[in-house]
Amino acid sequence: MSDIVNVDYSTRIPNNVSLTEDRQVLRALERWHPGYIDWWMQMGPQGFQESLVYLRTAVSVDPKGWAKFDYVKMPEYRWGILLAPQEEGRKIPFGRHYGEPAWQEVPGEYRAMLRRLMVIQGDTEPASVEQQRHLGKTAPSLYDMRNVFQVNVEEGRHLWAMVYLLQKYFGRDGREEAEQLLQRRSGDADKPRMLGAFNEATPDWLSFHMFTFFTDRDGKMQLESLAQSGFDPLSRTCRFMLTEEAHHMFVGETGIGRTIQRTCEAMKAAGIEDPYEINKVRDLGVIDLPTMQKKLNLHYSLSLDLFGSEVSTNAANAFNGSLKGRFQETKIDDDHRLESSTYPVLKLVDGEIKRVDEPALTAINMRLRDDYTADCQRGLDRWNKIIDRIGVNFRFQLPHVAFHRQIGEFRDIKASPSGELLDDAAWNGQKENWLPSKDDGDFIQSLMRQVVEPGKFANWIAPPRVGIDNKPGDFEYVKLAA
Ligand SMILES: [Fe+2]
Ligand SMILES: [Fe+2]
Repeated sequence: MSDIVNVDYSTRIPNNVSLTEDRQVLRALERWHPGYIDWWMQMGPQGFQESLVYLRTAVSVDPKGWAKFDYVKMPEYRWGILLAPQEEGRKIPFGRHYGEPAWQEVPGEYRAMLRRLMVIQGDTEPASVEQQRHLGKTAPSLYDMRNVFQVNVEEGRHLWAMVYLLQKYFGRDGREEAEQLLQRRSGDADKPRMLGAFNEATPDWLSFHMFTFFTDRDGKMQLESLAQSGFDPLSRTCRFMLTEEAHHMFVGETGIGRTIQRTCEAMKAAGIEDPYEINKVRDLGVIDLPTMQKKLNLHYSLSLDLFGSEVSTNAANAFNGSLKGRFQETKIDDDHRLESSTYPVLKLVDGEIKRVDEPALTAINMRLRDDYTADCQRGLDRWNKIIDRIGVNFRFQLPHVAFHRQIGEFRDIKASPSGELLDDAAWNGQKENWLPSKDDGDFIQSLMRQVVEPGKFANWIAPPRVGIDNKPGDFEYVKLAA
């Protein structure tokens, strides 16, 4: 390992932030790096640290440099620090400081709030690596195995991105936060990760694909709103992270899409018309659609919780302070200050779910969540097209936002996927129809067998239409024994 620890930082870390001229930040990063590698070896993909993986590495932010493909051992991946190019004369696009020049340094009054936003974002990045570290052992193909590893190294890079900002702009406090980011562990009783969905298990590949579809999409929305930030280095960092994040959602959407395709094709071939003949479908060695709907219900509802309370003064303060904007802020046609406008919020009023107008400033989370829901729905529409095309009678649906919530307006009530309020008895009687049961989990687990012959796929998932980097179907994406 010594050659990894004794890094020549001028060449080992691709960066466009003049790292070699920034002695103080360089020293802080040098001190942080061995701990990061320790964390990666301990909590990164288990059993594959010596494998050669065909990975995309970003070595610069221009179109030619940010997607270089080659075989690399994951601990030797070049975790770079890359910010989208500075926009000449960029103006703050929202909040109290609307129209002022974007800040190149942290404004003193917002120091604590900004640090908090970065730490929360940063904490999710290593968390998902920890959650996914067992998946290589049950990968349905070398193609899929490579994809989870690609997601993992990029989440690692996203941690670097936040740590760079913390170390460069927040001095001693920032260095302490950077240390803490390596100390917390997903699902740990004493030192858990900060957000709920990032402490859940990712026990199988259906969960992984649901996670990258739903939870990485929350990440996309958060990055989109931070990319609007008046603090320019944060904006530029997030803009570049979004280019990588798009691949994570591709992995999720196509992973589920291929699972749906395989199930529908197997049903057709066996002459099964009714998708609810679950045992018959499962006997074909594929995952029945109703179980996929239950997994979808689970991951969507956990991801909604990540948006926080519908009405939130923290969110209002972050918007008002021009620190965290809205999805596609610059394309919205309004005053971008929101001091006098309202936004409709679903709330619990006298035991009923009602739409209530709230001040738009405090409803920032709700608005972002609505944009997220619309983005999710577009993915579901594409999945439903696959089902239609093969000719099976089934539709995936997003459950109501009141369903299975632990944060916000609906955390203390029980609601069905269609939004009907239920008492405990009714909920308990039905919940196994709406959320995955232990049996469902055991069945999915029984299908999870590693397939490592190039070009071969596990029975429960269809091959992709095209390879990564346009490689042929039998390309050896991971060379296991290096
Ligand atoms: Fe990320
Ligand atoms: Fe991601």
